[in-house]
Amino acid sequence: MRIPDYPSRDSDKWAQVDAWFSEKLAPEEPELSYALTNNVKQGLPTHDVSALQGKMLSLFIQMSRAVRVLEIGTLGGYSTIWMTKAMPQHGSVTTIEFSEHNAKVARQNISNAGLTERVTLHTGAALDVLPTLEAPFDLIFIDADKVNNPNYLEWAIRLSHKGAVIVGDNTVRGGSVIDSDSDDPNVKGLREFVQMISEDKRLDATAIQTVGEKGWDGFVMAIVKAI
Ligand code: DHB
Ligand code: MG
Repeated sequence: MRIPDYPSRDSDKWAQVDAWFSEKLAPEEPELSYALTNNVKQGLPTHDVSALQGKMLSLFIQMSRAVRVLEIGTLGGYSTIWMTKAMPQHGSVTTIEFSEHNAKVARQNISNAGLTERVTLHTGAALDVLPTLEAPFDLIFIDADKVNNPNYLEWAIRLSHKGAVIVGDNTVRGGSVIDSDSDDPNVKGLREFVQMISEDKRLDATAIQTVGEKGWDGFVMAIVKAI
């Protein structure tokens, strides 16, 4: 069992409930288990989405009939694999990873899943790569450094179309998102991200808090109503 990012006295129970639901609703296919094991073996931080969260992204993709997905923050490609597998054969994911090492591991995991042809992995700073991408994307998953979330949001909107879906990970961070005095640049970035979404008339959004094997965190999700 992994160490939760945002623990509480109920962490064990949350993780047990996650495991119970995962076994029933999001049983891990071998290529997904391989990716998690390989990530740990190669020293990546255990910040992958949980299996149930991967399945949630998969369902968002299926519900919105997305076939062009953009992911900002690949890590070891665990969520990349979930999202690619959610789409028909012509569906593809463009994903951006800052760390060369993480990207190398992600390539192994994506290759092991037989998805190399359907995933374009860019290595570098997302803010350098984003201006080079061809729009539009149907769904954009923001899951990189939280400091730049406001910039990533601007790019996500720029690279989207009317009806596109934007999902941000780690938007609760153990409740710290409401700490207006926080000096943590991640918290500041998240707060500004949420503020920008709340003021942007082109977006319709909600937030969902989650508990589970990662502890207490959550997602912000938005639909682009106009562009
Ligand atoms: C962190 C980053 C993540 O993307 C995540 O899902 C959990 C934690 C982090 O940097 O702490
Ligand atoms: Mg995350």
